[in-house]
Amino acid sequence: MKVKAVDYAHDGRGVVKTGKDLVFVPNLLIGEEAEITIRSNKKNYSIGEVKNYLSLSKERVTPPCMYYQQCGGCQLQHMTYEHQLEMKQKRVSDALKHIAKLYVPVDDIIKSTSPFEYRNKIQMAFANTKEGLIAGFYQAKTKKVLNINTCLIEHEEGNQVIQTLKILLDSYHVKAYDPITKKGWIKHAVVKKGIYTNELMLIIISQTEGFKKQPQIISALIQKHPNIKTIIHQVNPSIYKVIGDKDHIIYGDGFIHDTLGEFTFKIKPQSFYQVNPPQAKKLYDLALELAKINKQDTVLDAYSGVGTISLFASKKAKHVTGVELIEDAVSDANYNATINHIDNVKFVCADAETFMVSNQSHFDIVIVDPPRDGLKPSFIESIKAMKPKKMVYISCEPSSLARDLMQLKTLFHVKKVVPVDMFSQTYHVESVSLLELK
Ligand SMILES: C[S@@+](CC[C@H](N)C(=O)[O-])C[C@H]1O[C@@H](n2cnc3c(N)ncnc32)[C@H](O)[C@@H]1O
Repeated sequence: MKVKAVDYAHDGRGVVKTGKDLVFVPNLLIGEEAEITIRSNKKNYSIGEVKNYLSLSKERVTPPCMYYQQCGGCQLQHMTYEHQLEMKQKRVSDALKHIAKLYVPVDDIIKSTSPFEYRNKIQMAFANTKEGLIAGFYQAKTKKVLNINTCLIEHEEGNQVIQTLKILLDSYHVKAYDPITKKGWIKHAVVKKGIYTNELMLIIISQTEGFKKQPQIISALIQKHPNIKTIIHQVNPSIYKVIGDKDHIIYGDGFIHDTLGEFTFKIKPQSFYQVNPPQAKKLYDLALELAKINKQDTVLDAYSGVGTISLFASKKAKHVTGVELIEDAVSDANYNATINHIDNVKFVCADAETFMVSNQSHFDIVIVDPPRDGLKPSFIESIKAMKPKKMVYISCEPSSLARDLMQLKTLFHVKKVVPVDMFSQTYHVESVSLLELK
């Protein structure tokens, strides 16, 4: 079938209309014509596959990563960076129009100065092959581990640490854990980097105890990579979570630090810390610029993580309350407030919805940064009852943002929406919205 892509799906697949039917076609850019075949039919759409390109867009580039076609990590490497930004900008404004019926102008997306090598956290899975141990990401289609020597969106040093670990384990005949035979040991390795401190943390995750040749492997690792400040071994048999709860610290203190602006933050294996700190700083600066907090204002930072936004807001506000579900993140947030000498913040460990429903205090400004699902209806009802003069909504999913703004627009004017590119080469897009009480 001969087709032309007229739009993008949320994940960057080309959208083709054939009569009343929609077909999503991977690796097809808007305006491109191709011969496709239908790979599968879903209830409301089909999935196609390009057999032969008939015309190519000027926005098409050769993906720089040699693993791009098989690996599931990036989705937009076949587009120019400018076109990725256009696609993300449109995704936000389309969601507002179609879901929230909001026809507000969306500001130009804040682009990244480093569309590659921006991630401060690299996580690879291990598998066994005839040639020995491999480490990499799961293939998009087969879910098998793809042997990856370097990932172009990760920081280079992290890539190298995992390669060294793989070679060392292989040289001592350590095998990857195989869930079918239930044999083998190593499952994953994660490297976190303090981008501004250059400190590296290595987390080695195995199925069982018994770290063969541990002293030799650790000393070879730190000799080759002197920026490694801590190494943690975790035994984690879970099939759902890569990072476990129990740390066995085998080198250093079990945590690293990074700085962001004037603040220092502690990062542990379990901590949520933004993966693209330079862009996160732009996001936080923007949120605070829009909130225009003054010294009389009390601020609620809901979904506060390790307290990053709360600390930035504390410099401008009378008092900030951060609310976060994960106990460890709350204890890190308290530690971060202490080491940064901030005493006008308080962190509450609670479900943000439950906190809002039972909360008796009034906040002048509410900042929210929820996970992808967005806000719960009870949270929105409580905001409506509280009537803060301003709300700043940081979102990582345009469709849940639009759904929530649909509810909030009865009480607030949506004054500004600014997309931010935090995850170049992938379809994910963040945004900051300013809402002012009517
Ligand atoms: C997108 S992150 C934002 C963290 C922080 N604002 C930052 O920029 O680093 C969302 C945070 O919400 C927390 N969270 C998830 N569900 C929650 C809930 N129901 N109540 C409170 N916090 C929650 C997560 O643990 C995570 O730390």
